[in-house]
Amino acid sequence: MLVLGLETSCDETGVALYDSERGLLADALFSQIDLHRVFGGVVPELASRDHVKRTLPLIKQVLADAGHEAKDIGGIAYTAGPGLVGALLVGASCAQALAFAWDVPSIGVHHMEGHLLAPMLEEHPPKFPFVALLVSGGHTQLVRVDGIGRYQLLGESIDDAAGEAFDKTAKMLGLNYPGGPEIARLAEQGVAKRFKLPRPMTDRPGLEFSFSGLKTSTLNAWQKSVAQGDGGEQTKADLAHAFQAAVVDTLTIKCRRALEQTGLNSLVIAGGVSANQALRVSLESMLKKLGGKVFYARPRFCTDNGAMIAYAGCQRLLAGQREGLEINVRARWPM
Ligand code: KG4
Ligand code: ZN
Repeated sequence: MLVLGLETSCDETGVALYDSERGLLADALFSQIDLHRVFGGVVPELASRDHVKRTLPLIKQVLADAGHEAKDIGGIAYTAGPGLVGALLVGASCAQALAFAWDVPSIGVHHMEGHLLAPMLEEHPPKFPFVALLVSGGHTQLVRVDGIGRYQLLGESIDDAAGEAFDKTAKMLGLNYPGGPEIARLAEQGVAKRFKLPRPMTDRPGLEFSFSGLKTSTLNAWQKSVAQGDGGEQTKADLAHAFQAAVVDTLTIKCRRALEQTGLNSLVIAGGVSANQALRVSLESMLKKLGGKVFYARPRFCTDNGAMIAYAGCQRLLAGQREGLEINVRARWPM
């Protein structure tokens, strides 16, 4: 089955063609980062309008790249939530209209299920069951995964998501949006251990996360340095290093706990923050000690993309799931 996947939940228009026999055939992405950067974050109305402009040309592009025509498509998958409602509606309306016109089934996909399954597109995919750490701009969750659609939430953030903490901390330090890659880049120049920041909620049992206090501690350390006339680039880099180390340590401690609790030794990391190199290194070293393995997607498929939606949708269509004719999207949607 050849499946067209559409992702429009936030600030990237992602389109891809996935074939159940031949794998991923083509994927195209338009990132709106330049459009939103001047505002320091995503402006929902601008995002929706840009998705309207990009979606159809990208569909034409992936068909041409894969050497296929519309008549070859056997199903359409689109992100139905969670995300920005106006942005989601663009992908959903487009998918439902094309599915009706081409007389093929359609399926609405949960954005985080897309992220969760993205490592399945790699050469050595993980095997069920595994523990997944989902770390994006909107979510920080630990999930036990026993199969497609068989997800058990083990713990999640009680306030900011990890990516959100990266973005907000970057903004405080006067860095560009999105903050994750900016902090990661700056952290490379940072001196380790100059600033000591907390590892939130690691001193008590459980798999919940909290990143909002860490953000405040970082701000306090920054303001104190500035007040002492020490608000230069090196201080900024040292703080970026300390902040990233605190997030990475915290995520690593909770992942180890989740693996111990479930008795599993496969860990999948997915979502935008899983592109973070320091996080990958830390988790790999932890899993090596446990005799297990970490799985993640190539950097392009860690952040939002159409390939993960085409893949997840294909699995659900093959299982016989389908949407009706109505167009439903959800800003909030537990997985
Ligand atoms: O999964 P994603 O593209 O969109 C959502 O579903 O939210 O994740 C975006 C988030 C942003 O917060 C961004 O700052 C973060 O992922 N991110 C990173 C890195 N690349 C993206 N955070 C840390 N290090 C990175 N290299
Ligand atoms: Zn995402």
